[in-house]
Amino acid sequence: MTLLTAHNLTRRYPLPRTKLLGKAPFLTAVSNVSFEINPGETFGVVGESGSGKSTLARMAMAFEAPDDGTILFEGQDIHALNAPDLRRLRPDFQMIFQDPFSSLDPRRKVGWSIAEPLRAMGITAPDRVAESFEQVGLHAADGDKYPHEFSGGQRQRIAIARAIITRPKLLIADEAVSALDVSVQAQILNLLMDLQDSLGLGILFISHDLAVVASICDTLLVMQHGKPLEYGPAVDILQNPSHTYTRSLLTAAGDKP
Ligand SMILES: Nc1ncnc2c1ncn2[C@@H]1O[C@H](COP(=O)(O)OP(=O)(O)O)[C@@H](O)[C@H]1O
Ligand SMILES: [Mg+2]
Repeated sequence: MTLLTAHNLTRRYPLPRTKLLGKAPFLTAVSNVSFEINPGETFGVVGESGSGKSTLARMAMAFEAPDDGTILFEGQDIHALNAPDLRRLRPDFQMIFQDPFSSLDPRRKVGWSIAEPLRAMGITAPDRVAESFEQVGLHAADGDKYPHEFSGGQRQRIAIARAIITRPKLLIADEAVSALDVSVQAQILNLLMDLQDSLGLGILFISHDLAVVASICDTLLVMQHGKPLEYGPAVDILQNPSHTYTRSLLTAAGDKP
């Protein structure tokens, strides 16, 4: 079964009154976007800043509802579920962000922070905490340290440990390597690919950087101003882009050291 199916997603935000003169009263952040993610597959979303990628991620996480369209997780419309049913489904999809501090409390030992999704499920399992640390290439003993004691790359590993501790089926990564140096980026991308192999994770991988997306994705969606420009197998789009915009992203990616 398809893991995630997004059908004709649209999301509008009201514009501030001051910007309204002669314009529509809303901004369409995401317009008619459809895609599918299969188990174990990496789906990449690429587009410049403001193209609607994070809005898409928030809808896929059921943090906010689309104005139009549907998102099915294993066939269930996540925005039609009642609160208890959605809570039961939550452990199946997890998210990591550009800034790992957003999911780590600076005043808490990281072992406490990564167990948080388990506590939300009513589970206390120190062995799962240790297992998660090891799965991301850290040590169980690292749980006794504080976030500031780690490097940026290690902190992103900890955020990943926190995300996989519930044994999710889908991981949503929004600009998860964008703040890291190129060599550390490569290590984190390798880790994500290893975890995908060992856990069968579906990954929704969002980045403004086509070079990063191209290195790991099976399927690709190129977005511009909220609209889907190209969608299909990543190799096809990369070898034969049909839009000038995609070609400009490819050129920008090729220019990098
Ligand atoms: N909560 C919000 N309220 C109003 N406008 C928003 C909100 N979130 C995003 N936007 C606008 O929607 C557009 C898409 O934003 P976003 O999804 O963050 O793009 P990206 O992640 O690709 O940079 C932008 O123009 C942004 O300003
Ligand atoms: Mg964003």
